[in-house]
Amino acid sequence: MKRLSSSFFQSLCRYPSNQMLFPCACLQGCARGQLDMEGALTARDRVGIQDFVLLDAHTSETAFLDNLKKRFSENLIYTYIGTLLVSVNPYKELDIYSKKQMDIYMGVNFFELPPHIFALADNAYHTMLAEANNHFILISGESGAGKTEASKKILQYYAVSCPSTTLLDNVRDRMLLSNPVLEAFGNSKTLKNDNSSRFGKYMDIQFDIQGDAVGGHILGYLLEKSRVVHQNHGERNFHIFYQLVKGGEEDLLHQLGLESNCQHYSYLVQGECANVASINDKNDWKTVRNALSVIDFDERDIQDLLGVIASVLHLGNVQFEPDSKGYATLNNSAELLWVSTLLGVNVQVLQEGLTSRKIEAKTDEVLSPFTVDHAIYARDALAKAIYGRTFTWLVNKINDSMENKDSSRKTVIGLLDIYGFEVFYVNSFEQFCINYCNEKLQQLFIQLTLKSEQEEYEAENIGWEPVQFFNNKIICDLVEEKHRGIISVLDEECLRPGEATDLTFLERLEEKLDSHPHFVTHKLADKKTRKTLERGNFRLLHYAGEVTYCVVGFLSKNNDLLYRNIKDVMRQSKNTIVRECFASKESDGRRRPETVASQFKSSLLGLTDILMSKEPWYVRCLKSNESQQPGQFDDVLVRHQVKYLGLMEHLRVRRAGFAYRCRYDVFLQRYKPLCPATWPYWRGVAAEGVEVLVQHLGYLPDEYKMGRTKIFIRHPRTLFATEDAFEVCKHDLASRIQAQYKAYWQKGQFRRQKEAATKIETCWRGVQARKAKGRRQWAVKVIKKFIKGYMARGEAKTTDNSEYLAFVRQNYLNRLKDNLPKMVLDKTSWLTPPPVLMETSEILRQLHMRLMVRKYIRGITAQQKAQLQLKGITSVIFKGKKDSYPQSVSQPYVDTRISEQDINMKVLQMIRHEGIKYSIPIVKYDRNGFKARPRQLILTQTAAYVVDDAKIKQRVLYTTLKGVSVSTLSDGIIIFHIPSEDDKQKGDLIMQCDHLFEALTKLSVVANKQSAINVVQGSVKFQMKAGKEGIVEFSSGQESMVYKDKNGHLMVVSTRTRAR
Ligand SMILES: Nc1ncnc2c1ncn2[C@@H]1O[C@H](COP(=O)(O)OP(=O)(O)O)[C@@H](O)[C@H]1O
Ligand SMILES: [Mg+2]
Repeated sequence: MKRLSSSFFQSLCRYPSNQMLFPCACLQGCARGQLDMEGALTARDRVGIQDFVLLDAHTSETAFLDNLKKRFSENLIYTYIGTLLVSVNPYKELDIYSKKQMDIYMGVNFFELPPHIFALADNAYHTMLAEANNHFILISGESGAGKTEASKKILQYYAVSCPSTTLLDNVRDRMLLSNPVLEAFGNSKTLKNDNSSRFGKYMDIQFDIQGDAVGGHILGYLLEKSRVVHQNHGERNFHIFYQLVKGGEEDLLHQLGLESNCQHYSYLVQGECANVASINDKNDWKTVRNALSVIDFDERDIQDLLGVIASVLHLGNVQFEPDSKGYATLNNSAELLWVSTLLGVNVQVLQEGLTSRKIEAKTDEVLSPFTVDHAIYARDALAKAIYGRTFTWLVNKINDSMENKDSSRKTVIGLLDIYGFEVFYVNSFEQFCINYCNEKLQQLFIQLTLKSEQEEYEAENIGWEPVQFFNNKIICDLVEEKHRGIISVLDEECLRPGEATDLTFLERLEEKLDSHPHFVTHKLADKKTRKTLERGNFRLLHYAGEVTYCVVGFLSKNNDLLYRNIKDVMRQSKNTIVRECFASKESDGRRRPETVASQFKSSLLGLTDILMSKEPWYVRCLKSNESQQPGQFDDVLVRHQVKYLGLMEHLRVRRAGFAYRCRYDVFLQRYKPLCPATWPYWRGVAAEGVEVLVQHLGYLPDEYKMGRTKIFIRHPRTLFATEDAFEVCKHDLASRIQAQYKAYWQKGQFRRQKEAATKIETCWRGVQARKAKGRRQWAVKVIKKFIKGYMARGEAKTTDNSEYLAFVRQNYLNRLKDNLPKMVLDKTSWLTPPPVLMETSEILRQLHMRLMVRKYIRGITAQQKAQLQLKGITSVIFKGKKDSYPQSVSQPYVDTRISEQDINMKVLQMIRHEGIKYSIPIVKYDRNGFKARPRQLILTQTAAYVVDDAKIKQRVLYTTLKGVSVSTLSDGIIIFHIPSEDDKQKGDLIMQCDHLFEALTKLSVVANKQSAINVVQGSVKFQMKAGKEGIVEFSSGQESMVYKDKNGHLMVVSTRTRAR
């Protein structure tokens, strides 16, 4: 969770020191989790803690330094003391200021991420928006500790993180670009810092109600003007001089009378280091030149501004010579000419102003000439004055360009980048002012911190435990108290008639402050201290330590004297900037101008007022080493800074009662997973939830207190334990939340798919329904037509019935095709045709029949044919006459029923020559007794033989065979009627044959006796012997039998066939 909602942000406590302490976390119960957990804890050992408030040994300076050092060695340059940010200058580029990093810190609470200048900037910004009040960020630290860098980072952060519009981008550009311009004019290379700010800067960034940066305002404090005319060895003048000389275009330099060589200018060479490796003056010139145009400087302004810079350089080269009386003279100075040209003043008047002063004597004005030294002093004073005032003008000009003229309500964040406490080998007036400034800020700082602490305790109804701290009011008073304070004494000395010197000033101090516990001089000191103090020095015991100041120069620097006549000259200047700068009230009146120290004092009072009305945020910058080397941590140096920046003091105040506090809702929100009663929701009052939670966690009664809106926790270890427990369960929670989310997402997905499916289904059903409807309509039409057609089917072909008829035809033909009779004999299964097809059907039927017949015939063998021919003959003779005929039709005929082998050899020999055509076993009935005798009937070409084994019993020549009788019934009786004229003849032959039809058909064919075969009904007479007749009676009965009846008839009973 990178970004918290703004409401969450707004609900943050003002002391959100409850940071996430370790970036890595763990999963409960799993091995990896255990490892991560250990990782987190060892990481804490390695990188220290992120908030000093949570330092167990919070009173130990060594523990404090250890923690700083640990973190520094891991490139963690930021550490909190509550909301105060301690920053240690790494002297190397760290990849922690990118846009990506800014995004990470945007809208995120302190405790979510490691300490960072962005976190502080972001918190100040959001608190300002939420509470609609003003804030300031005080950045302090000694020269080179990283104050200016920090303030730039904050500005950059706001430039990126605040909402933007074209108009606002304009304001933003100006705010950002005012920086290089101010740095060019107000910064220089010193021994401590290649880009040291030589002025204090307070910048208000104005935000409208939506949080847009809409304007800005800068206040400058005490520019170190002396640098214009003098630089220590190894230091430079202000950057702008070098930038102009080295980077200025040829034309421009020509116009300004300059040469592109720093060595030409005495104001640039005193430090003997015009070139610095870390500074690219040429490039910086381009940046500044470009920035000037962006921040509303027109060409005229720029020309005038550069005129001033160039005139200062020329002024520095103006040399004086003593005349015979020892007064300073200045002849034919080309440099002075350039000064007068560039400033637009009369060269004579200028020369006069530089070499003499006007003294008003009653009504007259008398010119008092200068000695050479005096002239040099006046020259330098003019250079300083011009530069100093131009710097003020520049700040005002920048303010004009950033000013928001809209009167709507705005809130501001002030950025105070001010010089830190300074201690040099020789400390002068400037150090005195700077250190005084730091005393004031320290006082304010302690006041605000204590005040807010106390207010918070009161608001939360928690007993206030008085905190021991160093109250530096006594030192502030020592410096600024009216009549008694050092500044008062200094001013008095400056204004006093008579010969006042730096030493008389010291004497006055000794008089006034002889018993002050924080003031020592050589004279006032005890023996031991005296050894460490020169006579011209005084020592102040600052809150941050002792500083010895050398009084030399105090008076003149405080006076910052510029003679009236030279001021008058400047007021005549044709250079607009110079004219504006000198056209102030001070020169009108007779009153002496305010001294520098007084001015500074009142500007600090103003600053204090400004700051007191705002909510404070602090950035304390520390130098890690003196040599500006990356990776070096100078313990002594850092310890010293920790001390004089009052960090331990601050920590003590912050830790006085309780190490940690947090609003109930915020605390509950973060730690509620640790207690089943509060997870996932606590429905009641947050305070009660917290109470339940801490009870569950086992907090002891004296370890915490419940305030009105916040819980106060006494020891860091309690919080650590809680935080560790939270680390453990965080990942478990994460996976649970993840699972919930996945489920939610999947459900959504499923729902969408389902909806889509339903939609598709609906559409598809619609399509189907429309199709079905179409089909139904079509079917109705077709059926209607069909019915109409059906009704008119008998009529002549019309449009109404033609289709129907076609259908009927087709349907019939189709059905017929599948149901054609398969056999010739099948006469019944021909489909009945519809009336329209009667004729066709008949033709087709005949055709089909012919086809079948043809097929049948083609398939018939010669044998079958012969058989059929025989069957045909049988049919002619018997069909419809004899009962057993139909059954016989399917019985195939055989060639013979007795093979030649089965015929007796003797018989065979006798009849073979006649050609045996057919033989069959029969039963022969005697003529008289009708005894049944088995015999063989053999048909030859000419006769039929009745054979009994080896004997031919009877031979019937076909020619003699009169007729053959059979009954209409199903018996197998055959009677051969043979003429009996001859006695030898035996009479008619009565036989019973199982294959009656076969035998008789063969006979009719062999003997051509077709017509001789009679089928008789009832009875038949037969010839027993010549003249004697017998009768055979046929009847049907239950059982077939043949017997002789009492009447002498042969009775043949046959079973009735089903057909009858
Ligand atoms: N956060 C930082 N990261 C890297 N270098 C820094 C940082 N802060 C300061 N520095 C280095 O230290 C130098 C001095 O910083 P600066 O802000 O000018 O000091 P101050 O304003 O306190 O005198 C810078 O020029 C830069 O080289
Ligand atoms: Mg600076």
